[in-house]
Amino acid sequence: MSTGRPTLYGVGLGPGDPDLVTLRAAEVIRRVPVVMVPFVGASSRAAEVVKSLNPEAVIVGYQAPMTRDRREREKAYRKAARIAEELLREHGEVAVCSLGDVTLYSTFWHVVRWLRADVNVELIPGIPAGLLCAVRIGRPLVMGNDRLLVCTREPPDRLDDVDAVILYKPIKRGIRRLLEEGFDVYLCRELCFPGEEVKKIEEPEDPGYLCTVVGIR
Ligand SMILES: C[S@@+](CC[C@H](N)C(=O)[O-])C[C@H]1O[C@@H](n2cnc3c(N)ncnc32)[C@H](O)[C@@H]1O
Repeated sequence: MSTGRPTLYGVGLGPGDPDLVTLRAAEVIRRVPVVMVPFVGASSRAAEVVKSLNPEAVIVGYQAPMTRDRREREKAYRKAARIAEELLREHGEVAVCSLGDVTLYSTFWHVVRWLRADVNVELIPGIPAGLLCAVRIGRPLVMGNDRLLVCTREPPDRLDDVDAVILYKPIKRGIRRLLEEGFDVYLCRELCFPGEEVKKIEEPEDPGYLCTVVGIR
């Protein structure tokens, strides 16, 4: 049913392989007049996925700064929201894409937060990177009543009741904690991109940004 309001699609692209994009996400990316993707500096993995799905796509980037400076982040996302509003005014429909799923640590919500216009938001899920990690590792994350923890950087202090951990944006200290707690620890780097690497580690190492760490008991 048409609401008369412009529609902002929040599209999860999956971890990076165009074959792992949902049919609905692909349909939206091929149909909407303009697609927004986050850039870190000059590069955007999300833009690469969008281009491989639709070489004709009109792609507009917005900066998703990798900084812990809140003001700098807010400035960038306010700017992204203004760009989205302008595009929505002009075209009526815009897709804002991010890797993985749109409800998990996605920059999409930072853009939505600063919107001033009345828009219809429609969400399209994607396969989260953490789940592809488990598939690449070839082990179930959890079974029966096992408990799964999903967090960023490093796990919280108590892990006694946790059977598996997905660590997004991991840091070396977080990896060390998982090893000390006796988890089997896997580093999953650049899944679906040319530098893909999945390995079980015994010593902590610097993970880099496009890396997810999985711990399984
Ligand atoms: C801003 S979060 C986005 C998470 C994403 N929305 C999801 O559902 O997977 C960025 C983090 O996702 C993980 N990530 C996303 N794509 C990845 C990939 N292709 N390979 C490994 N990790 C990935 C990394 O931990 C990265 O630091």
